[in-house]
Amino acid sequence: MSPHGSFTGVALDPAALVDPGKGLVKRYAYVDQGIYELELERIFARSWLYLAHTSQLPEPGDFVATFMGDDPVIVCRGADGEIRAMLNSCRHRGNTVCRSDEGNTSFFHCSYHGWTYSNQGELVGVPKYRQAYGQALDKKEWGLLPVPRVEEHLGFIFGNWDAEAPDLAEYLGGMRYYLELAFGRDPEGVEVIGGVHKWTIDTNWKVPTENFATDMYHVNHSHKRVIELGLMEPFTDSGYEIAAGMGFLGHDFTPPVAEDFGEHAEDPTHGYWVMPNPYTEFLKEERRRMAEKKGEDAARLIPVGHGAVFPSFAFLDIEMLRLVRVHIPRGPEQTMFYQWCVVDKSLPQDVKDALRKQYQFTFGPSGILEQDDGENWRQLQVGCRGHIGRQLDTNMVLGLGQDRPAADIIGRGAPGHGGGIWSEANQRAFWRHWLAFMTTERASDVRDYVRNDAP
Ligand code: FES
Ligand code: FE
Repeated sequence: MSPHGSFTGVALDPAALVDPGKGLVKRYAYVDQGIYELELERIFARSWLYLAHTSQLPEPGDFVATFMGDDPVIVCRGADGEIRAMLNSCRHRGNTVCRSDEGNTSFFHCSYHGWTYSNQGELVGVPKYRQAYGQALDKKEWGLLPVPRVEEHLGFIFGNWDAEAPDLAEYLGGMRYYLELAFGRDPEGVEVIGGVHKWTIDTNWKVPTENFATDMYHVNHSHKRVIELGLMEPFTDSGYEIAAGMGFLGHDFTPPVAEDFGEHAEDPTHGYWVMPNPYTEFLKEERRRMAEKKGEDAARLIPVGHGAVFPSFAFLDIEMLRLVRVHIPRGPEQTMFYQWCVVDKSLPQDVKDALRKQYQFTFGPSGILEQDDGENWRQLQVGCRGHIGRQLDTNMVLGLGQDRPAADIIGRGAPGHGGGIWSEANQRAFWRHWLAFMTTERASDVRDYVRNDAP
């Protein structure tokens, strides 16, 4: 079927929109309401979606509010100590029962008619229950809808609406190797600090996710002013883009096998930020520890750079900061960003403070780099949404035909496959995942795809 006919009420066929082998995507995929609705059903209701970090929920009763797709959810450590996620929607008429970003509570109390739920989701209080409901209401059947699968990796909690979905570890596949390099360096683990940053941009959710999954190519150009100010050095031609499991990552400088890696091969502080960096000595120590644990080739990748996990989780692990974020879809043309600064738990407080300030200065909502990116993402949507513009292809041809195993690019033991620094290999991998999820009604086919495609 031709993809033409968007916005006319004709349902688009996702298979007609994407050709990862040729590196082409019809722009309808970024603007069409029907495609968006199908994404909610076939991607967001079947994928592992990022919820929160365990450091936000240390005590029974601690909760955060977030979204899975466009559904509001509460993530809460119940009185029994177990972390659950549940739909933030009163079972009476659907009102949200939690209006706070985060807090600690024994009960979620609906503001409309007063139904009350425990912090484990059970319906425990109903006004006029004896007088008016009698036997007609069995409270046991009207608790908050639980998210059937909630699992964590390195303290990062994900949820999945598909009760039969492969385990989170299986879903992440080879990406676990890289996530451990990024967030598993401190024996005490990582924590998020400074609360959540939230903002909204008029762009499709896939645009920022592609940027974090794949886009070394934009850096020297989009962020040229930051380079001209002397706050950052331009990327060289040496680096990688790797897709592993359902994840993606990329960075510059890191290939120990690259001939032009040169004098910076052993210097984890070089390159990104020409600023005082109190984290430098700790970073060197973390590399040394990781070399003992996983070998020199793995340790040289630290910090691993930018990354994402399909569909909407993204992170940065660069020389001066780490962050995690989730791109929450709000219709085909708007995305809500939730983002947290991440630090190693065992760092001294003054180093944590410096990292948090650097995070705010660069990639916070008003950060100098985030502003460059956000404006491009908004304008991309403007350029793609019109009657003519939406009929064109998005081009992800960069590095096409040059993909190879990750081990050939960044050294022994590295899982996945990809290309050099100037490659859109990860974007093509992202769209292969998108296509696999979008083109099958049967959830079991998606599960098979995840299992088979997770090196
Ligand atoms: Fe919540 Fe009525 S909608 S009690
Ligand atoms: Fe950027």
